[in-house]
Amino acid sequence: MENFVFHNPTKIIFGKGTESSVGAEVKNYTDRILLCYGGGSIKKTGLYDRVISSLKENNIEYVELSGVQPNPRLSLVQEGIKLCRENNINFILAVGGGSVIDTAKAIAVGVPYEGNVWDFYIGKAQVKTALPVGTVLTIPAAGSESSNSSVITNEEGWFKKGLTTHHIYPVFSILNPELTYTLPAYQTACGVADMMAHIMERYFTNVKNVDLTDRLCEATLRTIINYAPKAIANPEDYTARAEVMWAGTVAHNNMLEPGRIGDWASHGIEHELSAIYDIAHGAGLSIIFPAWMKYVYKHDINRFVQFAVRVWDVDLSYTSPEEVVLEGIRRITKFFRSIGLPVTLRDANITEDRFEEMADKCTNYGKWTLGNFVKLGREDIINIYKLAK
Ligand code: NZQ
Ligand code: ZN
Repeated sequence: MENFVFHNPTKIIFGKGTESSVGAEVKNYTDRILLCYGGGSIKKTGLYDRVISSLKENNIEYVELSGVQPNPRLSLVQEGIKLCRENNINFILAVGGGSVIDTAKAIAVGVPYEGNVWDFYIGKAQVKTALPVGTVLTIPAAGSESSNSSVITNEEGWFKKGLTTHHIYPVFSILNPELTYTLPAYQTACGVADMMAHIMERYFTNVKNVDLTDRLCEATLRTIINYAPKAIANPEDYTARAEVMWAGTVAHNNMLEPGRIGDWASHGIEHELSAIYDIAHGAGLSIIFPAWMKYVYKHDINRFVQFAVRVWDVDLSYTSPEEVVLEGIRRITKFFRSIGLPVTLRDANITEDRFEEMADKCTNYGKWTLGNFVKLGREDIINIYKLAK
């Protein structure tokens, strides 16, 4: 096990009706906020009205920034920064999913910074301070509600880049599983693939003797595999929605990470797909992760055997461990397909004409490698896109 510091400061408020506490939570910080949300689902579901009445009850003034798109865009972030500066706002409330929360985080680091906020996403500047962000989560998926990351797409060149800094952990996040009843089955499934990917990125590590976190990863994956189909079959199954929602947070709040070194190549490879083709991040991952597994499993057959046996209940075989691994990969692929996700690029109508461009972008034209479990260069990444055809 590696040395580690574990510190996740996000206060989680979980359960039925908890969104009514949002005004009181904000009041601990300020009485003037930027209210950030997406394309309108919160108005259709009535959540918007409930948030506004809680803000009003607590005499909190708000300026609105709506229209955050999935794969959130830099131009809207710039608009949010301007709104905060013009209105002297020092707190951002995000009501929505990962895209809304990531936009709020980007605004939070951009307001106190004199340069272009994109500098942080390309490593040209380091974040020194940020405004506080609070969230009301409506889709379990990205884990941004208690992560130290924000992922933004710059429309100039369609670059999708992540920023990681402890300054952007939300100060609180409200998680009511009932708010996820209205999610279309496909969005639920995309979220499930993303949270599973967050666990698997950590699971496939070269660090030895990480048994507790191995088992926590396996338990979280098994919980998702058990409850996700139930949530999709019966969208108002509170138990299933609650298990999936908490799993999505645990998958990415670093609880599963201490002492390990995660991989993260599949995320890098996927971000190029969602940047260029604007597909849901989770749908890109259900295509890329099985292909990545096929490409790298020989690096550590035992770890992949453990994954197949403990997560997917594949029978252990001492004579043909490779067959156990391949059966594990078949089972995860079948699972993704069973919840309505694409598992090949063809399923998502993506052709092979831009593999080289995507590999160039995520390796900075072959100068960088991706991943820690196996370090992948430009050619490896092209091969993985080919395996995902
Ligand atoms: O925009 P609205 O109308 O609200 O609709 C949204 C959106 O179309 C809809 N939706 C959300 N909650 C709903 C709902 N529809 C009905 N009922 C509800 N309760 O769902 C759609 C997708 O929303 P989005 O916020 O894009 O989803 P998600 O949470 O999956 O976020 C994806 C983004 O997060 C990034 C991804 O790359 C992607 O850009 N990630 C962020 C991470 C982080 N900050 O830590 C880590 C992840 O690995 C990921 O990269
Ligand atoms: Zn992700």
